[in-house]
Amino acid sequence: MKLQNKVAVVTGAASGMGKAIAELYAKEGAKVIVADLNIEGAKAVAEGIAANGGEAKAVQVNVAKLEDIEKMIDTAVKEYGTLDILVNNAGIMDGFEPVGDIKEDRWDLIFDINTKSVMRAMRKAIPIFLEKGKGVIVNTASTGGLNGAHAGAAYGASKHAVVGLTKNTGYMYAKEGIRCNAIAPGGVATNIASSMKSVNEFGASRLKVAQDVMPRMGQPEEIAQVALFLASDDSSFVNGTVIVADSGWTAAF
Ligand SMILES: NC(=O)c1ccc[n+]([C@@H]2O[C@H](COP(=O)([O-])OP(=O)(O)OC[C@H]3O[C@@H](n4cnc5c(N)ncnc54)[C@H](O)[C@@H]3O)[C@@H](O)[C@H]2O)c1
Repeated sequence: MKLQNKVAVVTGAASGMGKAIAELYAKEGAKVIVADLNIEGAKAVAEGIAANGGEAKAVQVNVAKLEDIEKMIDTAVKEYGTLDILVNNAGIMDGFEPVGDIKEDRWDLIFDINTKSVMRAMRKAIPIFLEKGKGVIVNTASTGGLNGAHAGAAYGASKHAVVGLTKNTGYMYAKEGIRCNAIAPGGVATNIASSMKSVNEFGASRLKVAQDVMPRMGQPEEIAQVALFLASDDSSFVNGTVIVADSGWTAAF
């Protein structure tokens, strides 16, 4: 097993990619904090892991709240004694709005959930990793964090910021045994569309051109395999970078 006795926190783990990552990490021997706003969903994932012989605990977390993020990391240490792997995966979609149509409150919420939470969770984890002399961070960015035509302006900017945070963090702590990488998934079949409050017609029509050349949608389990690679020693020389998993979609551009 690749993550035997490691302690992992996975945010957004009640659904989609986070759920697949939590389940795969547990299968590979990790003790997992299944963190999500949706506590019923998180409990179901933790129970499923336990039913398969793994170890997991569900924690209700709104990643937009500082106190929740801190409680989440503290719970890992209290329950399992330490933290080895932090997966910042929770995220929401915008409504494909171009900059001219962005609403202030939606921009703030998208940045709080998709970006500021990543900084806050990493900031809280770093002292633990520094003390141990090792630690791994995996951030779920997006192909929208590398390109301009995959969502609206707010989502794209929030994920570009995650890429920047990932590179800076990977570089800064490279000599301290801490690795920080991001995954940039292309289109993946999850529940993310349920976080879209409305769809901007103009924005959607501009994005359609890029979406039309997508080879296929991915499955959450395919992203979980990338997250396992990045969390395990198999990727010991990989740091401060972004792995694109999109079936070749963005190779077109
Ligand atoms: N699905 C895609 O096509 C795609 C592509 C690229 C990147 N992503 C990114 O992948 C990540 C996972 O998304 P997914 O596609 O699996 O979607 P999903 O909606 O299936 O899962 C996201 C989870 O995050 C949780 N969440 C939302 N807001 C939260 C909050 N404030 N606090 C705590 N938890 C919260 C949700 O309850 C949900 O369980 C996101 O960061 C998303 O931006 C998705």
